[in-house]
Order: sequence, then C-alpha cells, then structure tokens
Amino acid sequence: MADRFLLAAVMGWPISQSRSPMLHNFWFAQYGLRGTYVPLAIAPDRLEAALRALPALNFSGCNLTIPLKQKAMAIVDEVDVTAQKIGAISCVVVKEDGRLVGFNNDWYGFVHNVLEFVPDWRADAGPAVVIGAGGGARAVIYGLLERGAREVRLCNRTVERAQALADEFGAAVRVVPWDDRHDALDGAAMLVNTTSQGMVGQPPLDLLLDRLPITALVNDIVYIPRETPLLVAARERGNRTVTGLGMLLHQGVPAWKAWFGIEPQVTAALRAAIEATL
Ligand SMILES: NC(=O)c1ccc[n+]([C@@H]2O[C@H](COP(=O)([O-])OP(=O)(O)OC[C@H]3O[C@@H](n4cnc5c(N)ncnc54)[C@H](OP(=O)(O)O)[C@@H]3O)[C@@H](O)[C@H]2O)c1
Repeated sequence: MADRFLLAAVMGWPISQSRSPMLHNFWFAQYGLRGTYVPLAIAPDRLEAALRALPALNFSGCNLTIPLKQKAMAIVDEVDVTAQKIGAISCVVVKEDGRLVGFNNDWYGFVHNVLEFVPDWRADAGPAVVIGAGGGARAVIYGLLERGAREVRLCNRTVERAQALADEFGAAVRVVPWDDRHDALDGAAMLVNTTSQGMVGQPPLDLLLDRLPITALVNDIVYIPRETPLLVAARERGNRTVTGLGMLLHQGVPAWKAWFGIEPQVTAALRAAIEATL
C-alpha cells in the first residue's frame, strides 16, 4: 500500500456542505499517507455511472449522502445485511475484482459517538424516544436495537412514515402520534432528534422537555450548529447531552478499515478542527 495513492470520495447532491472531505483528509495528513478524499456532486440520475467509474479510477470506495443513500441499493453488486436492514447505503467499498459492496456505518457512528461522551451508556436503561423517521432515524433505531434497547418510542410528523419503520424493525418500536410527542418523554432514558429541525436555517424542534426525566440523555444528530437549540435547552435544565458531529466522525472509522485497512482515531484535535468550521 505504501506506493499506492489512496483515493476515496463522498457523493451527494448538493455536496458543498459536506464535512467529510475535511474529516478524511485530516486522517491522511495525520497518518502521513499519500492520498486524498474528494467531494463529488453527483445528480441522482448519474449515480450508477459515477459508482461504476470508481474501480477504473482506482478509488477504494466512497461515502454517499443525501439524496443518494437509498438509490445506491439497486446499483451496487452486493448490499451487506446491516445496510439491508437499515434500508440505505452510506459507504461503498470497491473489491479487488471491481465489484461494489454497499455498507451502512451511520448506526456505528451514532453508537460510538454516544459511547465517546457517555462510556457507561446502556441502551437498555429505559425507553428511548426518537423524533423523526427519515434516513438518520433508521440508522439510530438500528443502533439502539443493536445495543439492546427494549422500547423505542418513535414520533414523526408524518405518522405513516413512522409506522412503516416500526413495521420493519419489530415490536420494540412503538409509534407515538406527533401531537403526543411532548408526553412521550415521560419516563424516557434517552431522547434523540433525527429530524432536520434545529439545523441552521431551520426552526428549532418544537418539543417541550417538561416531562423528560432529568436523568435522561439527550442526543441530536443535527451537527450544524454544533449545539442545537434542543441540546442547549436540555443542557440548561440539567440533562446530559451529546452533540451530533461525532456520529459523522465515528462512521468514518469502519470506512477506513474497509478501504485502507487502517483503523483511524477520533481525537480531540480532529473534532476541534471540524467544529471550528461549523
Ligand atoms: N450526524 C450525522 O452523522 C448525521 C447522519 C445523518 C443525518 N444527519 C442529520 O439529520 C437530519 C435528518 O437527516 P435525514 O437524512 O434523516 O433526512 P430525511 O430522511 O429527509 O428525514 C427528515 C426528517 O425530518 C422531519 N422533518 C422535516 N421537516 C420537519 C418539520 N418542519 N417538522 C417536523 N419534522 C420535520 C421529517 O419528517 P416527515 O417524515 O414528516 O417529512 C423526517 O422525519 C439532517 O439535519 C442531517 O444532516 C446527521
């Protein structure tokens, strides 16, 4: 590998907002490796051509972001079992024979971000409330169940989307109507926002925290801004909080292992470098 110029990419549409190039290029520099990670703006109807070009261009693989994660499922040659369960591909690995294999590492990023902040976190400590039922929620729910969660209360503005997700993930996931979201926090051990609310340019998540136990852990997977209004409100009332950036940072670890055979570290210096841009 020493002689090889290492290449990987992130494909999305648009792509300019992505912090992934900064993350991966930080690791190339840290490990003194010859390589680069490039952002590629790929329209959905060009995704197949773009993915199929990866082997000829000597790319080890790529990440996928909005709106390409579901579409890639039908393009790659193989979808690993976890990505099948989550229903989306976040990482494509180019095999030696040129075959493309799709993985989903977002759930791993979610779990290891929480564990970095709260090493003794237990998903089976009590009910978890998940707000939102999009792509991010799928990875979060998979991660919660993987870590032993026994009750996930799922609440989404569009109830049908939450119900479809609950049907897929089984009896541990229970749908709560959107209007009942404030009361759903009663007795919860954890709250996770997976909606886009609270993101820069969006209004804060409309959620009253009065019923949330003070012992509950609160995580927002939105990471621009670094601390969302939800996290500020939770922290100010005394809840432990976990910001969202680490989900992105940690999902890069298994990607590097698969692409380059290296297990990179999520360090304070890495986090600070990226947080400075948020
Ligand atoms: N930290 C990370 O690594 C990471 C990873 C993935 C995603 N994210 C972030 O998570 C957020 C969601 O991403 P996604 O991929 O899950 O998006 P998505 O699939 O488009 O889902 C968006 C979710 O937000 C909800 N929503 C949108 N507008 C809303 C409103 N006005 N009121 C209430 N709910 C609303 C949607 O509800 P409906 O179903 O009713 O439309 C849906 O549940 C984004 O900010 C993204 O950047 C972060």
